[in-house]
Amino acid sequence: MANVKTHTFDAVIVGAGGAGLMAALYASRSANVAVLSKLYPTRSHTGAAQGGVGAALGNMEEDHWEWHAYDTVKGSDYLADQDAVDVLCKEAIDVVIEMEHMGLPFDRFPNGRISQRRFGGHTNNETQKPVMRACHAADRTGHMILQTLYQQCIKHNVNFYDEYQVVDLIRVGDQVRGVIAIEIATGDFHIFHSKAVMFATGGWGRCWEVTSNAHSLTGDGAAICLRRGIPLQDMEFFQFHPTGIFKLGILITEGVRGEGGVLINSEGERFMKRYAPTIKDLASRDVVSRAIYLEVKAGRGIGGKNYVHLDITPETVNHYFEEDGEKRRIDRDYIEAKLPDIADFTRTYLGVDPVKEPMPVQPTAHYAMGGIPTDVDGRILLNANKDILNGMYAAGECACVSVHGANRLGTNSLTDLVVFGRRAGKHMAEYVQTAPLEPLPDNVADDIIARFERIRNNTGSVKPYELRQQMQRAMTEGVSVFRTEETINEALEKLQQLREAYGSIQVEDKSKQFNSDLLEAWELGCLLELAEVTAVSAVARQESRGGHARDDFPERDDEKWLKHTLCHKDADGTYRLTYKPVTLGRYEPKPRVY
Ligand code: FUM
Repeated sequence: MANVKTHTFDAVIVGAGGAGLMAALYASRSANVAVLSKLYPTRSHTGAAQGGVGAALGNMEEDHWEWHAYDTVKGSDYLADQDAVDVLCKEAIDVVIEMEHMGLPFDRFPNGRISQRRFGGHTNNETQKPVMRACHAADRTGHMILQTLYQQCIKHNVNFYDEYQVVDLIRVGDQVRGVIAIEIATGDFHIFHSKAVMFATGGWGRCWEVTSNAHSLTGDGAAICLRRGIPLQDMEFFQFHPTGIFKLGILITEGVRGEGGVLINSEGERFMKRYAPTIKDLASRDVVSRAIYLEVKAGRGIGGKNYVHLDITPETVNHYFEEDGEKRRIDRDYIEAKLPDIADFTRTYLGVDPVKEPMPVQPTAHYAMGGIPTDVDGRILLNANKDILNGMYAAGECACVSVHGANRLGTNSLTDLVVFGRRAGKHMAEYVQTAPLEPLPDNVADDIIARFERIRNNTGSVKPYELRQQMQRAMTEGVSVFRTEETINEALEKLQQLREAYGSIQVEDKSKQFNSDLLEAWELGCLLELAEVTAVSAVARQESRGGHARDDFPERDDEKWLKHTLCHKDADGTYRLTYKPVTLGRYEPKPRVY
C-alpha cells in the first residue's frame, strides 16, 4: 500500500464554509475535532453569498418567525418539512444575534440595530407587502459570516487541515469510521479515523454552463455518499437565481431588487408586473427566472439576446431610505454603500457602472435544494423509514433537511448553514462522548488509491474538460429552468454516453504535487453522477413544483407528488427511486398566487 498516514479524532468535519465552521466551533468545545477543506477555509463558497441572512428580528417593522416560516413553506411550494422549517425560523433569530456578538460587522439602522432589507418572497403575512428580514453586511454577508466564524475557530484552537481533499468515506455497516483524503500539496493519501464525520461540502452548480457557483462546487460530498449507499433526496429541484451576470453567471444579489431595482425587457417594460402582479420583482426566484426565460423566448431579450436588464439607476428607481429622520431618494452614495461588491463586479467584468446604466442579467444555476437527507440534528437518514447512519452528519447546501423543498427563499441558505451547522455540531459533540472508536477495516484506503491510479495512468484519449463542457451543455439544454420528458431524456442519453467516455479520460499531469488535473478529473466523475441523479429524479416527477418546471406537466399535483424523492445508486450502478412523505404542519398546501 502507498504511504498512508493515519490521524485520529473524535469527529471530522469536511468543508470549511458556514455550516462546517459553525459545527466545528460547537463540537470542538468538548470534542477533539478536525476540519478538512480542499480550499483555504476563507475561500469557501459561503463567502460568495451577498444579500443577507434571513431572520425575523423585526428591527425596523413588525415581523415574526411564524411569518418567516409561512413564507419559507409557501416559497418551497409546500415540499419543505414544516417541523424543520419551524426550527430554522425560530433559531435564526438567536443565531444571528450570536454572530453579532462574535463580532460580525452587520450594517446598522440609524437606531443602532442590525440593518435588514427586503428580499424575494419575504412578506408581512397580514398585508402581503414585502417585509425587511434580510440581515446584511453591505452585499458581503456571506463573506463576513465566513471571516467571523473562521476567526472564532482559530481563537478556539480548532484543528484545520487546509487543502486536504476528501475522496472517500469509511463506512462499515450502519456506522461510519472516518474519511480518506488527499493532501493536495504532496498527493499523499491520509486516513482520518473518527467516531463521527460531518459533510458540509456545498453544492454542484458546476453541472451547468452558467452558474454562480465557484469552480470548487463539484458535489464531492454528495457523490461520495451516493457511492457509499446513502440516497440523495429531491435532486430534481435545483434553483436558478434570476440575476446572474450575463454569460459569466456571477451572482448579482437579489438585494438589488430589495433596494428597489427593477427588471426591464427590450421594450423598456417592467415585465414582472405581468407575472407577479402583487409582489412584482420581489417574487420568489423560480417565478422570476421563468419570467426572464419567457421574455427572452418571446423575443424581448435585450438586443435579441438571452438576457434582460436589471436597473438600479437612481433616475429609474423610485426608492427611498431614511437618514437623520429624513426620507431620501437613493443615490450614488447609497448604492456604493449598500451594494459595493456588485457595483465592483459589473464595473470590472462588464464595464457597466450600475449607478449610471442597467446591468445585463440572466438566470444562473445557483443552489441545490436537494442533497444528503438529514434530520434536524444533521444526522443522515438512509431511507424513507428514517433509519440513521450512526456517526454520520451533513449540513449546509450538500444536505437536505428539508427546509427549502422545491424552491429556496433568498437568504435562507445562510440561515440554514448557521442554524443546522450549530445543531449538527452540538449533536456530534454529544454523540462522540459515548460512541466507541471502532477499528478501521484492513487496507481501507486501497480501493480509492487504486481508483486514482486508474485515472492517473489511463491511456485513453478523452479530455476531461471536453466531457465537462458536454455535460454542462446537456444539463443546460435538458434540465434547466424549464424541462420536458423529451429534453430530460435527451440529457440522460448524453450523460450515459459521457459516463462511458469517462472510462477513457486522460490526464496530462502524472505528477503527485498539486495535481489539480487529476483532482479535477476525479471531481468530474462526481459531477457526472450528480447530473445523472438530477435527470433521473426529474424525469420521474410528472408535475411542476418550485424549481422543477415541466412544460409537459405544467400544474402542481399534490395528490400524486406531495412527496420527497430518494435516489439510490445500487451496487450494479443503476439508479433506483423511492419516495417518502412530506412532514406537513400548520400550513396546508394552497394554490400559488403571484
Ligand atoms: O441574491 C442573493 O444575495 C443571494 C442570496 C441567497 O442565495 O440566499
